[in-house]
Amino acid sequence: MKTITSITEMQREAERLRAEGLRIGFVPTMGSLHEGHLDLLRLSRRHADVVVMSVFVNPTQFGAGEDFTLYPRNPERDARLAEDAGCDILFSPDADEVYPPGASTWVQVEGPDAILEGTFRPTHFRGVTTVVTMLFHMVKPHHAVFGQKDAQQALIIRRMVRDLHMDIELLVAPTRRDPDGLAMSSRNTYLSESARAEALAISRSLRLAQRYVVDGGRDAQALLRMVSDELTRTGALIPDYVALVDTDTLEAIERIGTTPVLLAIAARVGKTRLIDNTILRAETIES
Ligand code: PAJ
Repeated sequence: MKTITSITEMQREAERLRAEGLRIGFVPTMGSLHEGHLDLLRLSRRHADVVVMSVFVNPTQFGAGEDFTLYPRNPERDARLAEDAGCDILFSPDADEVYPPGASTWVQVEGPDAILEGTFRPTHFRGVTTVVTMLFHMVKPHHAVFGQKDAQQALIIRRMVRDLHMDIELLVAPTRRDPDGLAMSSRNTYLSESARAEALAISRSLRLAQRYVVDGGRDAQALLRMVSDELTRTGALIPDYVALVDTDTLEAIERIGTTPVLLAIAARVGKTRLIDNTILRAETIES
């Protein structure tokens, strides 16, 4: 595995690979890798000749008072895990080079960036779309892989790629969970044992929702009430939102039909904020 930190070197390498007719797959991450990230890498591997993973804790997607300085960083462990999972190039640019003094250009997907996560993190998605655009210009991938865990992020990036005519295929990988159901996240390292036990209410409530639909339930309000009740039962979890929305527009829906709908949850346990989601549809239910 090759490690690259210079942006120009990454661009020259990408040009060279493309000139050889090789397909470049790309997995952007903020590091502190877990099996969810590695699943993305393995999916990319199946569709590419060369797989690039970026590790960059992007300052502009953290709001004031969020966990940018605390965000877990494990560069040596990341390099080992990435290499073992089949990464060819690990790209870790420096923040000073990504955002040189005076940088003032933003890429913003207006609309879907202002709801759900956007209500609680108003500048988050513009930071994500700006850095992902820059990373696309550095890595020049044929395809890029994102996780369903961050469903709104994947949707916003899909919209950006469409609106800006970026010639990049997007792949979305399913959410990887720990055996107890908790969706894997770099932020899970913040959880104490008791907080982690409380956090399991999130995936439990998603399973309840799936059961409700399998059993013939179709009413959004009833489903949302059931999920909220499960989340707040012990008082340890504070939901930021529980939403049942269209998977393309993120608009709230009233009844569950045959088109897939997204059940999305954000909740805080202590100082840690967790998100999770599942897709529901009347006939077949996916996790
Ligand atoms: P990060 O949180 O490190 O996640 C990197 C990628 O891994 C994202 O596409 C995310 O959806 C995916 N992912 C995280 N947990 C997952 C899980 N349990 N199962 C499957 N996929 C999972 O998302 C970001 O970084 C950043 O916003 C980024 C896109 C890199 C831009 O800075």
